[in-house]
Amino acid sequence: MDGLNQNFQSRVVIDTLTQDWHSSPSSGVRRIYLERDNYSEFAKASSIVEYEADSSFQSHTHENGEEFLVLSGTFSDENGDYPSGTYVRNPHGSSHSPFSKTGCKILVKLRQFDKNDKSRIVIREDDYKWLPGICQGLTVMPLHSYQSEHSALVKWEPHTKFSNHSHWGGEEIYILRGTLFDEFGVYKKGTWIRSPHMSSHNPYTTNDGALIFVKTGHIHE
Ligand SMILES: [Fe+2]
Ligand SMILES: [Fe+2]
Repeated sequence: MDGLNQNFQSRVVIDTLTQDWHSSPSSGVRRIYLERDNYSEFAKASSIVEYEADSSFQSHTHENGEEFLVLSGTFSDENGDYPSGTYVRNPHGSSHSPFSKTGCKILVKLRQFDKNDKSRIVIREDDYKWLPGICQGLTVMPLHSYQSEHSALVKWEPHTKFSNHSHWGGEEIYILRGTLFDEFGVYKKGTWIRSPHMSSHNPYTTNDGALIFVKTGHIHE
């Protein structure tokens, strides 16, 4: 099968802090591949992208949308600056010319929107509104929902246990801070986990607690 991690019925775990970087068409911009359906610049892909200080990327149009979370530094384009912690969705047909003065690292998903999901969203850390989660020790910052797809940040207090649950439409997690555990492994900061449709687990935290970016309901294959 072409591409990388295209069997969506299998679970994928990647420690992004220990992966090799790939070059991009712009010098000063490099990438870690998490999943992609081909190796062209037009791939449906999820990646970690790093901009060096004072680097830029070619102007481009978002076919089927672009979603990213700024992990460190400040990402910028002609519409504004997006500091660490900012969540951005640029819908199908939008375009921009990105750059970074400080340097930055982002988690980005390309060409994965429904064309009818037209909202442009920018949520900066100052705008976060944390809500009580579904069990003691969890708080949730909802980022976006469209049909069955939900994206959120979830904060786990130390020693929080979430009961066994299954993932309708799969689950994708990136560990922003702390450490998450389940019966299959230990997931430190920088780990990306993709769990298939109807998979299940019992996640928990220990002394560190955790802050995670989580998407559910978008993996149907
Ligand atoms: Fe973009
Ligand atoms: Fe889960």
